[in-house]
Amino acid sequence: MLKVKPIPVERLPELLRLMPKAELHMHIEGSLEPELMFALGQRNGVAMAYPDVESLRSAYVFDKLQDFLDIYHAGTLVLRTEQDFYDMTRAYLARAAADNVRHAELFFDTQTHTGHGVSTDVVINGLHRACVDARTELGISASLILCFLRHLSEKEAFECLEQALPLRDKLIGVGLASSERGHPPEKFARVFARARELDLHLVAHAGEEGPPAYIWSALDVLKVERIDHGVQALKDPALMARLVKDRIPLTVCPLSNLKLRVFPSLAQHNLGQMLEAGIVATINSDDPAYFGGYINQNFTETFASLGLTAQHAYQLARHSFEASFIEPSAKQKYLDRLDETFETFV
Ligand code: HPA
Ligand code: ZN
Repeated sequence: MLKVKPIPVERLPELLRLMPKAELHMHIEGSLEPELMFALGQRNGVAMAYPDVESLRSAYVFDKLQDFLDIYHAGTLVLRTEQDFYDMTRAYLARAAADNVRHAELFFDTQTHTGHGVSTDVVINGLHRACVDARTELGISASLILCFLRHLSEKEAFECLEQALPLRDKLIGVGLASSERGHPPEKFARVFARARELDLHLVAHAGEEGPPAYIWSALDVLKVERIDHGVQALKDPALMARLVKDRIPLTVCPLSNLKLRVFPSLAQHNLGQMLEAGIVATINSDDPAYFGGYINQNFTETFASLGLTAQHAYQLARHSFEASFIEPSAKQKYLDRLDETFETFV
């Protein structure tokens, strides 16, 4: 781990933007900007619930996760064809590349779309083709994690996995998203066990709004490798010790937490305490079109509010590559380039 020279605080935003990083927690449907949503609605003849982009954007005010999920779900109705999924993914990857994201692991779900009569292969083929093209055209690598919707049943999650199996090679893992409270990880124990047999990586949203107990069961019952959000872990010292000991990464999304009122202000976010405690925390954008910014916006606002330093920036960028599912030799190359960036930044 590099010892980073202190820099003047006014130069931090430049460093945060410049440093190479990985993004590990973003839902591709949550990157659908109102402008593209309206364009796709028009292309597909789907009526919009709002008259224009401005009024749609002004509806993005939430008190809790479920408020957001309802609006987010309505937004997905414009996605009908493989090209729609391609265009949405391409737009995100171009935006992420501009923030110096070098590798992204994208969450998506199929249950939302199959519920609207769009088949699993339309979704996965569109997303995957955009990831393949972005590698050569934008210099960013990207891979796909299929999230089960936890407000639906175990049986529906099994159907979702079975429908995706012909496209297994286009996925790196499975995750668990949607309404957390009342839907503990153990509801999906058998589906995750099946995904594990298929050599898929495993992650789950836990401890966003839900209790530390959900983080324990994501680890011990689902056997996940990373926890998405996990901000409630600080309420449980034994859990914190476990996360530190086993170097379980938390993919933290500060602006999401702010917009969904998990914390009353960014200044009260616990990311600084996590880093202090030795947690492998990362910064991510979750649903950037809805929560007020892409990854660099998350970095700059969080650093300003918490008074974090260049050393924290290095630590967070390093964690992002360490916590990724990139194969080890490629991972080392990203880490070497990260070190170079910090050694030459003056
Ligand atoms: N939490 C749970 N489910 C989600 C989220 C989130 O932040 N974003 C999209 N689906
Ligand atoms: Zn999320």
